[in-house]
Amino acid sequence: MSPSIDFALLTTAAWEARGHAYAPYSQFAVGAALLGADGVIYRGCNVENLSYGLTICAERAAVCQAVAAGCRHFTAMAVVADTREPISPCGACRQVLAEFGDLPIVMATREKTEQTTLNALFPRASTGILDRP
Ligand code: THU
Repeated sequence: MSPSIDFALLTTAAWEARGHAYAPYSQFAVGAALLGADGVIYRGCNVENLSYGLTICAERAAVCQAVAAGCRHFTAMAVVADTREPISPCGACRQVLAEFGDLPIVMATREKTEQTTLNALFPRASTGILDRP
């Protein structure tokens, strides 16, 4: 799948972003890296808030970084956390990512890497509203 994408580089960027996570409430740091069609890697980390529901996940933070820089076409995403099994984007992040189309997603721990796609995680996201003529 997507042989020209440097997933190792993208994963390294996600680990670096994870180092900036602001997670005083959960102590659970997450990093994400989004490869733009412009070749730029946009990074995100989770940013928590004492009003817990206002927490921004790493994946959505990366999307916001990209869009604010003028990039709306994405080639791949990496998500990392220091867990036993790789974590996958939450439902809210899947919905936000789906706004910009399908993309391969690498999910990594320190020991293990899995690859999937947004469409596999969030099927039929754009059926109807986004596909309307
Ligand atoms: N979190 C993410 O940033 N991304 C995920 O894919 C899962 C969860 C964050 C939200 C919260 O700050 C912490 O991890 C615990 O759920």
